[in-house]
Amino acid sequence: MVDPLPQFPDGFLFGCSTASYQIEGAVHEDGRGPSIWDTFSHTGGKTLNGDTGDVACDHYHRYPEDIALLGDLGVGAYRFSIAWPRVQPTGSGRPDKAGLDFYDRLVDALLERGIVPLPTLFHWDLPQALEDKGGWLARDTASYFADYTSHVVTRLGDRVRRWITLNEPVVHMAQGYAYGTHAPGRTLLLDALPVAHHQLLAHGLATRALRAAGATEVMITNNCTPVWPAGEDAGDVTAAAVYDAFHNRLFNDPVLLGSYPDFLAGALGDVVRDGDLETISTPLDALGINYYNPTQVGAPSGDSPLPFELREIEGYPTTSFGWPVVPAGLTDLLTGLREIYGDALPPVYITENGCSTEAGIQDQFRIDYLDAHLRAVHDAITAGVDVRGYFVWSLLDNFEWAEGYSQRFGLVHVDFQDLSRTPRASYHWLRAALTGS
Ligand code: FCB
Repeated sequence: MVDPLPQFPDGFLFGCSTASYQIEGAVHEDGRGPSIWDTFSHTGGKTLNGDTGDVACDHYHRYPEDIALLGDLGVGAYRFSIAWPRVQPTGSGRPDKAGLDFYDRLVDALLERGIVPLPTLFHWDLPQALEDKGGWLARDTASYFADYTSHVVTRLGDRVRRWITLNEPVVHMAQGYAYGTHAPGRTLLLDALPVAHHQLLAHGLATRALRAAGATEVMITNNCTPVWPAGEDAGDVTAAAVYDAFHNRLFNDPVLLGSYPDFLAGALGDVVRDGDLETISTPLDALGINYYNPTQVGAPSGDSPLPFELREIEGYPTTSFGWPVVPAGLTDLLTGLREIYGDALPPVYITENGCSTEAGIQDQFRIDYLDAHLRAVHDAITAGVDVRGYFVWSLLDNFEWAEGYSQRFGLVHVDFQDLSRTPRASYHWLRAALTGS
């Protein structure tokens, strides 16, 4: 038995998050073009067991059932992502009507249940045709993204007022372009840096397009992590500061302050053109934060090509993924953002937080995890941080990128043989907390 959750401010939005490639399936339907994740997951050895998102949770067909689950859960909002290759199969040109129709139906079904739709325009499934032209290493991808955004908001903007431009540009840059563990599988290490700038430029251009179409709340979702130096000596402390710059400040500073951390501005050189930072810092209505765990960083060993080294955090419980569970890290992160950015910090939403557990239905581990992290958010609010909402990752077990179907993050269990959904104990716990029943 856990204590009741603390009282959150009036209007605080509880929700669940998902992403298109992780749940939709139906990859060949209604004109959808291939994305970099189709290519990557169908390339031998890239995902665990060769898993792909071809079917995933078949949400494309089963969305009414999933929205019913959200409705019964009692959440006020649903964060999902729109698959660019459904809207523009080759990433540019005329939009595909049938692809947009799907999101139209989804939005209407959410509104019928009184659930606020919060779409993310890019959660990593770039049209393969754009990757063939350079992907996010190419500056033009930012303009293509702005065009795509305009098509989506033209279709949905009469009912959707809140938008997220990008999901976790840092993870897409690092895993996708620096280390190659995610699509598109490039291994450029520090040469991946232009990917950060072009994504941020895309964010800025899209923000302007959304505003022009009457959006009332526009945000970007950044993955943020408190960075812990592995030791007290200068090498570790410097490496931690450098990592903090790459992971956190590279994406928060330009958006909130209109500048890059000095040494990264130097490294970006003429990738940044006149006027770009003004575009990127177009004022935001809110900042989305995804939090999973802190990161421990030490000085690199002599022959490392990177200026930092990630070290394992010991002494905490871990999720099935092996990620340490540190709820206080979320409070520290939020109060830290407030200290760094002061009044430049807009209201914050936790747009993802959650854990992977064993497959079973009795997931007390997830209940404890969510309970502790919600309390950590409440502590940050008490300390003066304007946090407006919290979204659980995730509603359903789904395709967890390179880990395939092995990591289960769902409040709802999915049987990947027959695709049946079964709410877990954590679902019932959250429903009781939200609805009292
Ligand atoms: C985040 C991603 C999300 C999911 C969770 C576990 O980095 O945004 O799609 O994979 O991690």
